[in-house]
Amino acid sequence: MPTASNSTPPDVAESIAGLVPKLALVRRAGKSIGFVPTMGALHAGHVSLMERARAECDIVVVSIFVNPTQFGPSEDFNRYPRPRETDLQICGNAGVDYVFYPTAGEIYPPGYRTYVDVEGLSTILEGAIRPGHFRGVATVVTKLFLIVGANRAYFGQKDYQQQLVIRTMTRDLNIPTKVIVCPTLRDPDGLAMSSRNAYLSPAERTTGLAISRSLKLVVQRFQAGERDLELLRTTLSASLANIEGLAVEYALIVDGTTLEDVTSAGQELVALVAARVGKTRLIDNMVLQPDS
Ligand code: PAF
Repeated sequence: MPTASNSTPPDVAESIAGLVPKLALVRRAGKSIGFVPTMGALHAGHVSLMERARAECDIVVVSIFVNPTQFGPSEDFNRYPRPRETDLQICGNAGVDYVFYPTAGEIYPPGYRTYVDVEGLSTILEGAIRPGHFRGVATVVTKLFLIVGANRAYFGQKDYQQQLVIRTMTRDLNIPTKVIVCPTLRDPDGLAMSSRNAYLSPAERTTGLAISRSLKLVVQRFQAGERDLELLRTTLSASLANIEGLAVEYALIVDGTTLEDVTSAGQELVALVAARVGKTRLIDNMVLQPDS
């Protein structure tokens, strides 16, 4: 990642009151706002979202907030990386105009009681393994959407279920921000970029590569014309089996919109994998387009 540049540093607001009036002026001037919500520890995947926002909107806002309500009690909230200065520099290099960097107390002040639950979608797959996770995500993203009032907000496909939850919540609550989902960025070896990759030792990283390799194999078989879902599922699970150090939590091919089980390959499908490598949990996915 770039560490030095002569780009203009973004305007950093740590409070809602410090951000909202500035963005109101932007809107009053007839300018469009593109928003990239993040938890920091920014990597090239985040930068690609900022660049897309930069290309499509007049003003780009990034939020950096490690949201406590989306972490379970035994998860990595405390050890989640928080490289503030590097993150601000990356935002500056990407041409971000405003960074919203709130404290937990700013987002969840004493007496806070309101949560957003997207029923059904929030309790399967990731939601079943990480109870309450999507309630925390939907709540913080709703709040950030209302604070920022963006025209467009950008999310990565890597968190496939998350983007479905956010799109559903935005539609159901009539939030006038258009949600744009951008392709997953990968390192040259195929590993999907994630802030949590920083936890991996070189050996664990090699082990984790089985995930993208297996997904790619399924996409290749699908593109070659294979439409027998049981065979594709067997390909996926067989290629993830017996890999030392890889504990697969799920490896599925499901409906791309509902994440429900399907028996025929007529609609858009998604292959999803979640696995643990050592103490690190990795997720990845690839879409199977029926006409590909
Ligand atoms: O994907 C993330 O980084 C987070 O889940 C998000 C959307 C910023 C909400 O905290």
